[in-house]
Amino acid sequence: MGPLAAARPMTMDERADALEEQMERELERIITKSVLFNLADGKVEMEGGAALQAKHPGKLMLMGEDPRLPKMPDKPTLLDYFRYRFASTNHLLQSATHALKAGLDEKVVLACLLHDVGVVGFIRADHGYWGAQLIEPYVDEEVSWAVRVHQALRFFPDESVGYPYPDLYVKYFGADYEPEPYIKAEYERARNHKWYMTARMICVNDIYSFDPNAKVNIDDFTDIIGRHFKQPKEGLGLDSSPSAHMWRTMMWPTRFL
Ligand SMILES: [Fe+2]
Ligand SMILES: [Fe+2]
Repeated sequence: MGPLAAARPMTMDERADALEEQMERELERIITKSVLFNLADGKVEMEGGAALQAKHPGKLMLMGEDPRLPKMPDKPTLLDYFRYRFASTNHLLQSATHALKAGLDEKVVLACLLHDVGVVGFIRADHGYWGAQLIEPYVDEEVSWAVRVHQALRFFPDESVGYPYPDLYVKYFGADYEPEPYIKAEYERARNHKWYMTARMICVNDIYSFDPNAKVNIDDFTDIIGRHFKQPKEGLGLDSSPSAHMWRTMMWPTRFL
């Protein structure tokens, strides 16, 4: 680097890129970013294998665990995803604790515990749908159904159980935000469904204002998980359920293929 180049300090972006590149150079394998990760950065792009290997001569593509992420056990359980993959579990634990204290059915408690796994582990957008799909093969149909439709119900008040339209949504989305037609249609369908109240209980126990002092612990729920979540013996994500690949993607998000 010449003196002139050195004179201009790197921008935050350049520094982040340089750091990332340096880290990549130090790693054994070439770590790739899926199109979706790039879309989230506002870029419609993907680097092909040939270009990547040209940039990192002599290196092979990563086809397993990402050394930058916490190591997962050989046969991961739901609890391992709580520990090693979910970015934040406080909201889920507080919701489930709330439901437990209210004396609700264990199925409802589990639904509360898992209602936002889409947000904390996978993809924010349409998180109720992603979350339901993730857990569907492993829980009672009522639980995954409730997780799916909480996506829509949370935008509609139900005064009969003391659930108003969340103040937080006014703050987040503005006073004039209106849900899209598919959300309205989902709500209409759910309102007349036999499991409506299960899904509604997710909203009622959805704690938006976190209590930083609340003591919550995943260990309080191991029995409920044991009774109501069918842990596959091969490990969650290493089984052959219709959503095993989604758990695997959380475990190994940067595999080349
Ligand atoms: Fe949610
Ligand atoms: Fe939530």
